[in-house]
Amino acid sequence: MEAFLLNYAVEWANLLVRWLHLITGIAWIGASFYFVWLDNSLRPPKPGSDIEKAGVAGELWAVHGGGFYNPQKYLVAPKQLPDELHWFKWEAYTTWLSGFALLCIVYWLNPSAMMIDKSVADLAPWQAVAIGAGALVVGWTVYDLLCRSPLGQHDGLFGIVIYLLLVAAAYGLSHVFGGRAAYLHVGAMIGTIMVANVLMVIIPGQRKMVEAMKARLTPDPIYGKRGKQRSVHNNYFTLPVLFIMISNHYAMTYNHRYNWAVLAAIMAAGVLIRHFFNLKHKGRIAWQYPAAGVAILFGVAVAIAPKPAAAPAGAADFGKVQAVIAQRCVACHSAHPTQPGFATAPAGVMLDSEALIRQHAARIYQQAVQLKAMPIGNLTGMTDEERAVIGAWYEGGAK
Ligand code: HEC
Repeated sequence: MEAFLLNYAVEWANLLVRWLHLITGIAWIGASFYFVWLDNSLRPPKPGSDIEKAGVAGELWAVHGGGFYNPQKYLVAPKQLPDELHWFKWEAYTTWLSGFALLCIVYWLNPSAMMIDKSVADLAPWQAVAIGAGALVVGWTVYDLLCRSPLGQHDGLFGIVIYLLLVAAAYGLSHVFGGRAAYLHVGAMIGTIMVANVLMVIIPGQRKMVEAMKARLTPDPIYGKRGKQRSVHNNYFTLPVLFIMISNHYAMTYNHRYNWAVLAAIMAAGVLIRHFFNLKHKGRIAWQYPAAGVAILFGVAVAIAPKPAAAPAGAADFGKVQAVIAQRCVACHSAHPTQPGFATAPAGVMLDSEALIRQHAARIYQQAVQLKAMPIGNLTGMTDEERAVIGAWYEGGAK
């Protein structure tokens, strides 16, 4: 009873933290998209105008929510610092804090079910968590060093190198974790880099600029440049990271034999599509980028399409199917799960009666036969023969 209540409390923590993560993530990425659009849409002020003399490098007129807005961007900084200056940072920090909490709640508190897949690597729970945590630290360290190295000066080349390193991370993680956890940890790695860019580079740089102004010195433009570099990187990370955050719904991607390559392709598509929007804000329409992105996604869809399972010899009867499910699924998929760490039936799917199995026949077939996504991490050790039993039953009309 007590363990049951604890699991139930964890499920509520999961709900609340996920909700928060989504809200703050929208606020952060929304603000980030807005500023990229703004930066790319600014037009230089009229030569000789007052605002030009005041140091405005670009401005824009917009109408939104019943009012007119006229943002102006000062190159380096205004001559006089305003009394009130808004800093955009808590959107990023709370997104990371809530995301990290969710990572702990969903994965690190339950590594046996959520991270380890014994057919991939037979890790101890502590090893899985250590690798996951290590990935976040190593990811940021390598990225930051590369940004500061001479390579950081070459935008395009740098982008390619970072992309290849992320693919390498996906490859490595998919060879130690189950697919779902591998994907999510690549995402957490990118998210950590993005927030660390804000915390360690962008905000400290802005602080130095403000300090210089208070001391009546001209701020060194290097801080603005460095901040801009990191903020451009963050911009290209957004679409890949957002796909990864929803990838847990799509076992066809993370459970594929070459799941790391699938992820590499989808990330590339995201970057190409983002690039289109960045150019478009500057007034350049370049359809070849999103066209390439869509072609990649289409190619992935075709390449990972499931093939029908080979039917085993002999007709499958329902009794056999129910026995397999009782042994391999019901520990979790029951009104009262016996699997530690589960308070209620995951995804609301209960399989502990004939009627329920029939009701969920299509989903059972999809998850256990086509995608092999269930049992999660194959925790209950389902065999290929058992999958074939369910496959034959379903393909024979689920009688
Ligand atoms: C160790 C616990 C566990 C076992 C054993 C398990 N599952 Fe699941 N199952 C889960 C979890 C966790 C989810 C929710 C996944 C998510 O959040 O996307 C889930 C989700 C599902 C879903 C819903 C997926 C969807 O998105 O529609 C189906 C169907 C399912 N499982 C079928 C099965 C079948 C069939 C078996 C046995 C062959 C099985 N599960 C064994 C933990 C388990």
